[in-house]
Amino acid sequence: EKGEFGHFMLKEIYEQPRVIKNTLSGRISDRHVLEEAFGVKSKAIFDQVDNVQIVACGTSFHAGLITKYWLENIAKMPCQVDIASDYRYRNIIVRPGTLFVTISQSGETADTLAALRYAQELPYVGRLAICNVATSSLVRESDFSLLTMAGREIGVASTKAFTTQLVALLLMSLVLGRRNGLDEESEAAYIRDLHQLPDIVDKALAQDQAIQRLSIQFADKHHALFLGRGPQYPVAKEGALKLKEISYIHAEAYPAGELKHGPLALVDDKMPVIAVAPNDELLGKLKGNLAEVSARGGKLFVIADESAGFDDEVDYQLVRLPPVPEVLAPIVYTIPLQLLSYHVAILKGTDVDHPRNLAKSVTVE
Ligand code: M6R
Repeated sequence: EKGEFGHFMLKEIYEQPRVIKNTLSGRISDRHVLEEAFGVKSKAIFDQVDNVQIVACGTSFHAGLITKYWLENIAKMPCQVDIASDYRYRNIIVRPGTLFVTISQSGETADTLAALRYAQELPYVGRLAICNVATSSLVRESDFSLLTMAGREIGVASTKAFTTQLVALLLMSLVLGRRNGLDEESEAAYIRDLHQLPDIVDKALAQDQAIQRLSIQFADKHHALFLGRGPQYPVAKEGALKLKEISYIHAEAYPAGELKHGPLALVDDKMPVIAVAPNDELLGKLKGNLAEVSARGGKLFVIADESAGFDDEVDYQLVRLPPVPEVLAPIVYTIPLQLLSYHVAILKGTDVDHPRNLAKSVTVE
């Protein structure tokens, strides 16, 4: 039931603090990931891993792209991320010590399932599914799984499934990190951050009205550009996908550093540009990129850390988020983008929970 919310999508956006808590529950102690959560077979497999291959579609693919940064930073491990419909038809070369990971809300996506079946024939050390449905084909056919505890997701636009996938994938990154030089104190610091996550997501949700006010400026637009750097690039991709999917506005995401290499030509005073700007080591670079957009008259909307030195100026419109531990920023900065697409879709009068031409689970190729 939608309850007080007009749509399942909005209800599911607001469920995130709770379902993130559920996804963490029983999987972390004060200082550690409780590895048993990955099942009895997992230890022998994790012990052999020094490379990760991730395969997924759509929003779940974006969760994979973010995980690559976590694996590099936390587990010092290489990671390849592929779209399932591409992976399944390629001649895949598997490096020794590679773990195969699928990510899926439904566990029934035809291409992801076909990729897993292909991977069964290949010399991976194991096949892990990050999935929201315990009884799904993907979970049944994988060697082991970690369930996201998002509860049933009804809105076609994936929201709470995505953020809980990220939580599960961060736990996986920590478990692999442990085997590759991540010391106890550093693990404990990440766990402390994770314990704060539900509250931080609540604070991001508190920006809902500010985002709703901005959404008015998108309703008559035909295009939008999303920018982010580092792990915020996949966040930007996810924001663009949400906007396309439910408001039918053509949206593209770019790593901000790529602007000069082509997309800057699109920028004029009719082009809304949305940037995600946590206070990280790439902030200075991002600000430089945004100045290039302003100089071309682009309409800038910046979702920024309140300590990132953005002030309300005529050059851009701002949504402020509280300081966020760096590792959690991709999860937290997704929330305002979900809300933005929701409010724009409402203004456009689309069928938010059942956007045209799309199905909740894509069980055919
Ligand atoms: O069930 P899955 O996670 O495997 O689904 C993958 C995509 O079809 C899905 O994420 C799709 O992109 C969503 N509608 C995006 O909001």
